[in-house]
Amino acid sequence: MSKSASISIESVLQEDRKFPPSPAFATNAHISSEEQYQQLWNRAKDDPAGFWGELAQSELEWSQPFTSAMQGKMPDTKWFVGGKLNLSVNCLDRHLKTWRKNKAAIIWEGEPGDTRTLTYQQLYREVCKFANVLKGLGVATGDRVTLYMPMIPELAIAMLACARIGATHSIIFGGFSADAIADRNNDAQSKVVVTADAGWRRGKEIALKANVDDSLARSPSVQKVVVVRRTGLDVTMQPDRDYWWHDLMERADSECPAVAVDSEHPLYILYTSGSTGKPKGVLHTTAGYLLGVTMTSRWVFDLKDEDTYWCTADIGWVTGHSYVVYGPLANGATTVMYEGAPNWPDYGRFWEMIEKYKVSIFYTAPTAIRAFIKWGDEWPNKHDLSSLRLLGSVGEPINPEAWMWYHRVIGKEKCPIVDTWWQTETGGIMISPLPGITATKPGSCTRPLPGVVPDIVTEKGESLGPNQGGLLVMKQSWPSMLRTLYGDHQRYLDVYFSKIDGCYFAGDGARRDQDGYYWVMGRVDDVLNVSGHRLSTMEVESALVSNPLVAEAAVVGFPHEIKGEGICCFVIPKAEGGSDADKETLINHVRKHIGALATPDQIRFTTALPKTRSGKIMRRLLRDIAAGKESSQDTTTLEDYSILAKLRDDEE
Ligand code: PRX
Repeated sequence: MSKSASISIESVLQEDRKFPPSPAFATNAHISSEEQYQQLWNRAKDDPAGFWGELAQSELEWSQPFTSAMQGKMPDTKWFVGGKLNLSVNCLDRHLKTWRKNKAAIIWEGEPGDTRTLTYQQLYREVCKFANVLKGLGVATGDRVTLYMPMIPELAIAMLACARIGATHSIIFGGFSADAIADRNNDAQSKVVVTADAGWRRGKEIALKANVDDSLARSPSVQKVVVVRRTGLDVTMQPDRDYWWHDLMERADSECPAVAVDSEHPLYILYTSGSTGKPKGVLHTTAGYLLGVTMTSRWVFDLKDEDTYWCTADIGWVTGHSYVVYGPLANGATTVMYEGAPNWPDYGRFWEMIEKYKVSIFYTAPTAIRAFIKWGDEWPNKHDLSSLRLLGSVGEPINPEAWMWYHRVIGKEKCPIVDTWWQTETGGIMISPLPGITATKPGSCTRPLPGVVPDIVTEKGESLGPNQGGLLVMKQSWPSMLRTLYGDHQRYLDVYFSKIDGCYFAGDGARRDQDGYYWVMGRVDDVLNVSGHRLSTMEVESALVSNPLVAEAAVVGFPHEIKGEGICCFVIPKAEGGSDADKETLINHVRKHIGALATPDQIRFTTALPKTRSGKIMRRLLRDIAAGKESSQDTTTLEDYSILAKLRDDEE
């Protein structure tokens, strides 16, 4: 095994602390006893069709019942075949028939402090109107719509409006550049782009429409653009192509019949990085995904009607899709949405919001937790956090020290912490504590949820015993799994199903301890996890070599205090030298090609890269150098030993 798995196996701490849930939490939890968990888990493993079929019937609203709960084996399983439903009906219409009609669906706060609350009824009305707007712009069932927007209610409205008419959305995180938008528009063949003039971030306007304009020169499929006026930033509007959101909405009808789509109808595409090639368009379908996020929201966050739930993720990432919008709304919950940065206007913003809205469930990422620790306990300590009853973490392994801080300073030692392991591809949470029953261990995502059958295996697919590090795989299909990579089913089969026979390979290294708890150690491929977001080393390398200054580049991750992994680029410049000004140029070049999230932390100019005799770059050596470690790695295949010494010298 390569990279992090083998490295981390040695570095994983022996963590013996255990935190059982309080009896009070356990009594009221949706899953409240070990027996109940065992019974659900065994049933789902032995009879997945029966288990999920019953839940799909009882928990979702159907326009036409399905005839077969599960058909075929992984990788091509189909769920709830023959059924028809609409996702927006499940997130909205069905609540309007209950007392939840006037319950807050979304409580939104903008970075400047402006707020909006949308009840289920109000959200429904906006969604219907925007669905009619989309239809008016020529969007039909099955068409793709790109959403490149700030964290404003209009984003959730646009998602649900797409779902209402059976259009497939492709959300692009606002930190991506024009090039990244163009690539994604082209891959998805999007017909319409919905954006905003700009969004607020640390008091600055992040221009979005300008990036869309730039991308459209290279996105011939896009015919229309809808623009939300958010900050008032001056933008260019091209007649007959660009329309203001508010103008179109003013004229739109407030009722829009929902299109009942097949269970397997594409709900959304979300692009994520792989170790090679262009970003992968992960495709999720309707019924299985909806059931997955509905059940996991309830089981893992123990969502109740009284809760005020806040997931801080941006909707541009899968966490926002599943656990800001779809999962909470399907459960009729109140979901909090925040537009801006956690340190604006000061480091106390999140804690102030928790106090203001009396948030009871708070779900964030280890990278944020590490930043909070750095900013100091005085910020959370200034605020009343007593409304909190449950904390969550997602995106990367959480270090035990960060876990303990979260437990002590934010949770006041009374809130269970759910460390949730999952991926863009899995659609929903897979391995996680169940807060009413699991005795948590800092740094472990603990045990699989019902319906999830993982294993730790060798490269040959042999199951490993307790505490042996190996590859994390799934042995059984689950309803919310991705169905394909958009437009490239072969790549889907190659990436996820060719490595270990009969299993889904997640790309992570992990071990399982003597209690059956999982400890995920990170990626085993060339994918970086920067602030909980996946970036491929290869994409950053391609961006670098597209600059005329660069002859060759190799990109690796290194441990970074806040971001988890930082981006280190070893670059062989074309001409003599490689000045500090060139470093700046290259950093800006990568930002322009991929986006701010891919900003290199280090550019190291060098005259050569360590290679094997067959010419492959020895990344593991570069990783050691980037981390400032003496290499413990085998260098027997290294072509030129002197290069290592040179690279270290370059460091000084
Ligand atoms: O390496 C794992 C890490 O994040 C990867 C998935 O990234 P992405 O598709 O961007 O989705 C992130 C949000 C679901 C995984 O392959 N990861 C995610 N959650 C955890 C984690 N690693 C350890 N513990 C977690 N709780």
